[in-house]
Amino acid sequence: MEAKLDDHTCHPDFDPAFRDRLRTLLAWRRDVRRFRREPLPQVTIERLIGIACLSPSVGLSEPWRFVIVEDQARRAAIRACFEHCNQDALRLQESDRASLYARLKLSGLDDAPCQIAVFADRATAQGHGLGRLTMPATLDYSVAIAIHTLWLAARAEGIGVGWVSILDPARVAEILDVPKDWTFIGHLCIGYPEEDADLPALQRQGWEQRQPSAGVVIYR
Ligand SMILES: Cc1cc2nc3c(=O)[nH]c(=O)nc-3n(C[C@H](O)[C@H](O)[C@H](O)COP(=O)(O)O)c2cc1C
Repeated sequence: MEAKLDDHTCHPDFDPAFRDRLRTLLAWRRDVRRFRREPLPQVTIERLIGIACLSPSVGLSEPWRFVIVEDQARRAAIRACFEHCNQDALRLQESDRASLYARLKLSGLDDAPCQIAVFADRATAQGHGLGRLTMPATLDYSVAIAIHTLWLAARAEGIGVGWVSILDPARVAEILDVPKDWTFIGHLCIGYPEEDADLPALQRQGWEQRQPSAGVVIYR
């Protein structure tokens, strides 16, 4: 296939072997909470963010904003916020679930070498409002998709990502001193994983099971 530089429609061939590998990537993407301490090169982080920015977004608004959290005091404050929210969550567990919940490891905030807080800029003028008049949450959805893109791109390079949502969004925005229109979507712990697995950790620890996809489809 000969593609001209100005030809944006001449598409690559995604053959069966590629599809097979893609399925393997999807099956082995994991939420990672245990990381090796080895640092991630900055160029790697920037490459992953660049790939995340290829994601779809409502009206081509590209509302994702990435805050790379390097400052140790801010990291400690986010860690404290997680501890506080996680204790609240533990208190709210049904008694038969509480001891299992307490044993779960629900973040890699202690050892992930890279941490990125991801926000949606709800005030962005980019996209001229297209598609979000009746569904403003589509801006947030766009950012969640970008996180997933980063997650897959990282896994394809042997790098693990863990999404931490057990946090107070207003407190995270305050700790990171971001513009007021930025809404917190998720805090990512990123680094080389201690282990790989083709089953979610929550399934391996007996918290929840994946369900067959037929059960989530209805016909009308
Ligand atoms: C929006 C979102 C928020 C999540 N928040 C947390 C979290 O705070 N702590 C955690 O350990 N895992 C969190 N996870 C990871 C899920 O527990 C995980 O995706 C799920 O158990 C399936 O496992 P897998 O990602 O390894 O397939 C989150 C995932 C998503 C998509």
